[in-house]
Amino acid sequence: MGDVDPAFIQPAQHRPKLSFTEAHGIPLIDLNSSSYAAMGDLVAEIGAACKNWGFFQVINHGVPPETRRKLEEAARRFFAQPPEEKRKVKRDEVNPQGYYDTEQTKNVRDWKEVLDLTVKNPTILPASLDPADGELLQLVNRWPENLPELRPLVTREAFEEYAGELEKLSHKLLRLISLSLGLQENRLSGFFNDHTSFIRLNHYPPCPIPHLALGVGSHKDSSALTVLAQDEVGGLEVKRKADGEWVRVRPTPEAFIINVGSITQVWSNDEYKSVEHRVIVNSEKERFSIPFFFNPDHSVMVEPLKELVTEQSPAKYRPYNWGKFHANRKLSNFKNLGVDNIQIDDFRLQE
Ligand code: OGA
Ligand code: NI
Repeated sequence: MGDVDPAFIQPAQHRPKLSFTEAHGIPLIDLNSSSYAAMGDLVAEIGAACKNWGFFQVINHGVPPETRRKLEEAARRFFAQPPEEKRKVKRDEVNPQGYYDTEQTKNVRDWKEVLDLTVKNPTILPASLDPADGELLQLVNRWPENLPELRPLVTREAFEEYAGELEKLSHKLLRLISLSLGLQENRLSGFFNDHTSFIRLNHYPPCPIPHLALGVGSHKDSSALTVLAQDEVGGLEVKRKADGEWVRVRPTPEAFIINVGSITQVWSNDEYKSVEHRVIVNSEKERFSIPFFFNPDHSVMVEPLKELVTEQSPAKYRPYNWGKFHANRKLSNFKNLGVDNIQIDDFRLQE
């Protein structure tokens, strides 16, 4: 095993099988509504995918291929820099936004390096986890282009163009999801006026121990929804709802992978569940991916939507403040706060 840091070794029950099943079953949805006899058909497909899989891919999504290619190119160039260059945009305790290759408080390390950028710059979050403390914090992006020698790297323009397109696509998906839940089309849109969405540039270097490590350990996204661009290498695995098997999401050129996040799980009162996923690495190829985490305003109280709560199906969660939840995640993977990493299940009401 050479000099691999033992912190990367997954406990036996989490180690990946390197032979895998491909998820042929993951729905591939054409967002061009003229491909359907009626708008209701598209809405029904989205609803079934959210309910049965929590994951689907979309094509004809309206994001220009060129916009995606430019950011993918910028990500490649950024991560190809020597470590000392990347560390110049490293996140810190005051502003947990930027480059990192380790999450201090995780027991097992992910085989990846990351650059986090918020879509709104600055992005407003609570400054502390104390529910009584109303103080706010500004997250500011760290741009590699601030450094003269890195000017041609992750350029602000490539990022902003991509972020704008992905925001439009996310709103489109949000409207379709609302309709699929029997809600007004714009029922959820107002939660995103001062949104806290962010984009993560992920780089998974080749790994000498792919049978023992993971690019990202099994997790659920805490977003409302996530829109992921993965390259042609592949490695994303989803826990199939039907039988709990790990299945791989086959890379589809130009498609985006959409998954339901924990906020949608709560809004829908468990109708649409946030599904576990993880990333397998391989010994030959590096892999790049770019998730867009679509998150509401920090002030939003997340709770099951009134329209979806009835006497027969009462609210399964108590309300939680998105900003405090997100700040807990953001700050706690940087420093040990002496509090547990909160989970959506902490807000689940007794049956
Ligand atoms: C994530 C994630 C998947 C991938 O960053 O939350 O699930 O394919 N990434 O990189
Ligand atoms: Ni994820």
